[in-house]
Amino acid sequence: MDQYVVIGHPVSHSKSPAIHAAFARQTGQDLTYQTLQAPLDGFAASVAQLRARGVKGANVTVPFKLEACALADQLTARAAAAGAVNTLSFSPAGVVGDNTDGVGLVTDIVANAGIVITGKRILLLGAGGAARGALLPLLAQGPAQLVIANRRLATAQELLQLAQQFSPGSALEARQLDNLEGRFDLIINATSASLNGSMPTLAASLFAGAELAYDMMYAAVPSAFLCFASQCGVPARDGLGMLVEQAAEAFLLWRGVRPQTAAVLAQMRAELNRTVAA
Ligand code: ATR
Repeated sequence: MDQYVVIGHPVSHSKSPAIHAAFARQTGQDLTYQTLQAPLDGFAASVAQLRARGVKGANVTVPFKLEACALADQLTARAAAAGAVNTLSFSPAGVVGDNTDGVGLVTDIVANAGIVITGKRILLLGAGGAARGALLPLLAQGPAQLVIANRRLATAQELLQLAQQFSPGSALEARQLDNLEGRFDLIINATSASLNGSMPTLAASLFAGAELAYDMMYAAVPSAFLCFASQCGVPARDGLGMLVEQAAEAFLLWRGVRPQTAAVLAQMRAELNRTVAA
């Protein structure tokens, strides 16, 4: 039976085994998918052991996405642009690194939430790894404007320069997060603030008339950012759908078949809600 794993540290909390097991059942694919906690200084050695065991592929999560990028023999264009890898495919010829996070985000916004990105004004909050992974898939949708806003302006400017290399001619701007002004159709929180229960400092006026506020993080209860958006009257969506969609894209890469995601997302949502009730 073909074997797959998700490598992280820590990784026991990962929902990926449940998601891939559901995809495998649904598509009739014969595979196993397990978690592997690699030592913090032992990512490359863990990958070598997996390959020796004949494992076919691995998802990579915190904190190894940059190391996975460096380790891959070959990168897809979107992984090279993201500078990070969340999906590895192993073959005797070598290791191919891909990044399905950004396309997962876009699929969740466009296909699941039903929001058109083309021609819209997008505000991307944050300029770290999560923002970097999202940037090119968002630009590929052809937004009218994309503003990258970060506390440290220099980091947003670096990201802007990188995106201009890969996507010349895009309507991109880098701005400082403080005192940010403007009107946006889609506001995406790619900062890590939600992990600490905080949110970027934002004026309510930024949300006026917005179609969607999206937080790449997900948790059993809505983040401060999503609560703020809801208070502003804007529909709010967390990153659980992005998680399921990035997994679907990895499954497609590995197995050549795209699973249906709606039922799996509903299952994950129900499990998350049960943790609140418990
Ligand atoms: P990740 O890989 O999750 O993106 P990261 O690369 O450490 O994590 O980046 C974290 C991002 O969240 C950065 O853009 C950071 O802003 P700075 O570059 O100015 O530090 C942003 N961030 C974290 N906490 C934040 C907060 N409370 N308000 C605003 N931005 C925050």
